[in-house]
Amino acid sequence: MKVLVIGAGNMGLAYAKALVKSEFLQKTNLMISDTSPEKTEELKKVSRFDVYTKLEDCLPIADIIFIAVKPYHAEELFKELKPMMTKDQLAISIMAGVTIQSMKDGLGIKKVVRAMPNLPAQVGKGLTSFTASEEVSRLELSTVEKLLDTTGRSVRLDTENDVDASTGISGSGPAYVFYFMQSMMDAARKMGFSEHDSKVLVSQTFEGAVELFNKSDLSPASWMNRVASKGGTTRAALDSMEDNNIKDLVEEAAYAAFNRAVELGKEQNENS
Ligand SMILES: NC(=O)c1ccc[n+]([C@@H]2O[C@H](COP(=O)([O-])OP(=O)(O)OC[C@H]3O[C@@H](n4cnc5c(N)ncnc54)[C@H](OP(=O)(O)O)[C@@H]3O)[C@@H](O)[C@H]2O)c1
Repeated sequence: MKVLVIGAGNMGLAYAKALVKSEFLQKTNLMISDTSPEKTEELKKVSRFDVYTKLEDCLPIADIIFIAVKPYHAEELFKELKPMMTKDQLAISIMAGVTIQSMKDGLGIKKVVRAMPNLPAQVGKGLTSFTASEEVSRLELSTVEKLLDTTGRSVRLDTENDVDASTGISGSGPAYVFYFMQSMMDAARKMGFSEHDSKVLVSQTFEGAVELFNKSDLSPASWMNRVASKGGTTRAALDSMEDNNIKDLVEEAAYAAFNRAVELGKEQNENS
């Protein structure tokens, strides 16, 4: 099986590197293509991928085409790909808002997967949610899952609406965590800690809390109750968060991302 990654940007390269590192694919079965000659020349020097600038040189021999260009490049890319695609090829897109139907129409194939990764894919801790057209077989789905799992974990969802919803949780989620981290670091700075110490206090706290959570069956709420004793310091902080409705505001933010993902999908469809 040969995989072609189109777009050697942040995400395309993250997947390409993870694929090579994993046992899922032999190096010789991975191809990567980008329009920028500078980028491909650089890649040829530093990587051991088969790097291409012309799609006609690599597309015909690919079984799986992994599309990692920006959504606004989708239309022109689809136009270039369509005449060369064959019905047995399977395309996976991580382009935000590009729907299954627009991929089917744009590429002229039936086997398509729409996936939504997140930023930690770049360090092998990503979460990719995905859904597939009904023409993708169970065996192919299992292959897709293994491919996506090389950058962390994947979750298969039933509908595209679920993928949009997952954008509001895991897709955009790393930014919510960064928001919280930044707010805590800013508070630490105000309390007089150095930049370095603020960073250590916050990053180790996040890492430790996540590790505890992952190593037990307790819910975050149960952990909160374990940490917070009546009349204590943590309870004071949690009460302040409750009084300020932080929980509702986080939910509102997640829905804002979900709704924006739906809107982007509609805009993308209207433009294609
Ligand atoms: N970054 C994230 O956390 C994240 C999360 C979820 C989904 N995504 C999705 O992932 C996709 C890629 O994002 P990214 O941040 O990796 O973008 P990026 O860094 O801009 O990478 C895209 C690459 O594709 C190249 N390209 C453009 N048109 C091409 C074509 N026709 N053939 C081959 N290569 C082409 C671009 O070249 P030029 O620079 O010369 O245009 C660029 O090198 C986006 O659709 C985004 O919606 C990203």
